Amino acid sequence: MERTDWGSLGFDYYKTDWNARYSFTNGTWSEMQVTDDEYIHMHMSASCLHYGIELFEGLKAFRGVDGKVRLFRVEENAKRLRSSAERLCLPVPTVEMIVEACIEVVKRNEKYIPPYGTGASLYLRPVMFGTTVGLGVKPAKDALLIIYASPVGAYFKEGIKPIQVALDREQDRAAPRGTGDVKVGGNYASSILSGEHAHRLGYSNVLYLDPKEHKYIEECGAANFFGIRDGKYITPKSDSILPSITNKSLRQIAADLGLVVEERPVLMEELSTFEECGACGTAAVISPIGRIVDLQTQAVYDYGMDNVGEVSMKLYTRLQDIQYGRADDPYGWCTIVEM
Ligand code: PLP
Ligand code: COI
Repeated sequence: MERTDWGSLGFDYYKTDWNARYSFTNGTWSEMQVTDDEYIHMHMSASCLHYGIELFEGLKAFRGVDGKVRLFRVEENAKRLRSSAERLCLPVPTVEMIVEACIEVVKRNEKYIPPYGTGASLYLRPVMFGTTVGLGVKPAKDALLIIYASPVGAYFKEGIKPIQVALDREQDRAAPRGTGDVKVGGNYASSILSGEHAHRLGYSNVLYLDPKEHKYIEECGAANFFGIRDGKYITPKSDSILPSITNKSLRQIAADLGLVVEERPVLMEELSTFEECGACGTAAVISPIGRIVDLQTQAVYDYGMDNVGEVSMKLYTRLQDIQYGRADDPYGWCTIVEM
C-alpha cells in the first residue's frame, strides 16, 4: 500500500494482505492457516450468530524510532483471550498459538505498519466464535479463531485532545455477575444504544456506573477510567469491568513515576474531586477526559477542554516512549518482531 496519509488514519478497518486462522473441529485445533481471503464461509445456524458466542481482542504493533517493530504485551492479550474463551465455553487456544499468529500477521503485513512519526500503528484484531450448527442453547463444539490487522490512527478523533464523556445511569453495559470482565461481543452490543445516544448529543463515549448499585464509576464503553488527585492514580476495581492491559501498564508506570496507585471502588461523588481524568485502552491509548456530563441530572464535571493535564501527559509520554522504542523497556512489555 502506497500511503502518504498515515497521519490522517482514523480507527477503522483498512484492508491488509494476510490474516491467520485456526479452526477447532472434532476436538482438535488445526495448524495455523494464512490466507488472503477476507471472508468466511459459515452456516446460517452457527452458534455465534444466534447466541453471541463470540469474543475478540485488540493489540498494536508499533514501528519504532529505531525502525524496529514492537508488539505490545501480546502475551497479556493472549491470556485474556483464553479467559474470554473459557467464559463462553469455547475451545481455548494456547498462548503460543495466539502469539505465533499475531507475529505472523505483523510480518506478512509489514508494508501496512505505519511509519514512525505518523502517530499511527498496526492494530491486530483476534476474533473467535462458535461455528457449530444447531438450534439449542449450548456450548459450541467447533470454533474459528482469526487474527487480522488494520493500520489505525486515534480511536477518538480528538487524538490526545480532551474528550467529552456522557455519564449514563439508565443503561448498563454488563450485568453484575455477567461478562463485563471478559472481552465478548455481547458487552459491546449492549452498549451500542447508549453510545449512539451519547454520540448524537456530541459526546465521544459513555461512562458507565456499576450495574448493581449505580453508585460507583465503572468504565467507558471502549476504555477503562482513571482519575488523578493529590499525586494519586485512582482507577475503579470491579468484577464487571474489562481488565485493561493499558491500565495495568499505566499503574506500573504511575507507581514508578512516584504516584500512589489506588485500584478500588470509586464512588461517583469522587468525580468532583479529581484534578484530571482519562480513558485508557489499546485503541484509546490515553484520551484525557475534559468534561463529564451526567445525562440524567445534568451535573457537569469540568477538567479542562483546552489542555491536557500534566500527569496524564507524563503517563501518555512514558507509555508511548516504550511502545515506539524511544525509551528502554524495563518491564519487557515489547516483543520485537524480526522482519
Ligand atoms: N474496557 C473496554 C470496555 C474495552 O473495550 C477496552 C479495549 O480493549 C478496554 C477497557 C481497554 O483494554 P486494553 O487496555 O487491554 O485495550
Ligand atoms: C481496544 O482498545 O482494543 C478495543 O478493543 C476497544 C474498542 C475498539 C472496542
